[in-house]
Amino acid sequence: MKNIIIFGAPGSGKGTYSDEIVARYEMGHISTGDVLRAEIKNGTELGKTAKGYIDQGQLLPDSLMIDILAKTYDALPKGKGVIFDGFPRTIAQAEALKQMLAERGDDMGVMVELIVDEDTLLKRLLNRAIEQGRADDNEETIKKRFAVYHSQTEPLAEWFQKEGIRHTFTWKGSKEQMLSEIFAFLDKQ
Ligand code: AP5
Ligand code: MG
Repeated sequence: MKNIIIFGAPGSGKGTYSDEIVARYEMGHISTGDVLRAEIKNGTELGKTAKGYIDQGQLLPDSLMIDILAKTYDALPKGKGVIFDGFPRTIAQAEALKQMLAERGDDMGVMVELIVDEDTLLKRLLNRAIEQGRADDNEETIKKRFAVYHSQTEPLAEWFQKEGIRHTFTWKGSKEQMLSEIFAFLDKQ
């Protein structure tokens, strides 16, 4: 399988569909959010830095994230493709990812964009707050994450469009339908 960049707002299902895609195509998976939460749990210096940003719903600095991404990518076994979940989130990160992969004789593959209405996103994240207790899943921080997504990350969709690899999937109320549309597309890659 080609590399996949899974892209969408907080709660759009990046992690959920990544798990399904990984199971079907036996790919590697990098979730930068999961990497940072593990650092926080382990009480590392990086974790302490990350917590300050995550709790405020803000993005970490690009230079730091690009470094983390490259280290995580280089530690993965190669050959079956990687799904990038939560990275890139800015144009600078996207340019860096493209260059990093090119330096390694690889490319970005396809971008899978998840479009979900904001009421549904909010309901999902408030429900996850009850089920999993993620620190940034409170209404105030969720609203900040939505605002950061709209201002800093959403414009990237156009960047992927220009790269010719943007493929959009819109939530119509059924997870099964969403998944079958995504799989129908990925099966052809
Ligand atoms: P990150 O962990 O990436 O969070 P996010 O983008 O806010 O997205 P989520 O993980 O909340 O949502 P998701 O799209 O994965 O949805 P999920 O599948 O869980 O980043 C967290 C923070 O880390 C950032 O705010 C930033 O501070 C920092 N960070 C990370 N990467 C960075 C970067 N590159 N640069 C700078 N900073 C970075 O689904 C949500 C819930 O909905 C789940 O509970 C799921 O079970 C449920 N659900 C219910 N129905 C459905 C359905 N039909 N489909 C999918 N999910 C459903
Ligand atoms: Mg996630």
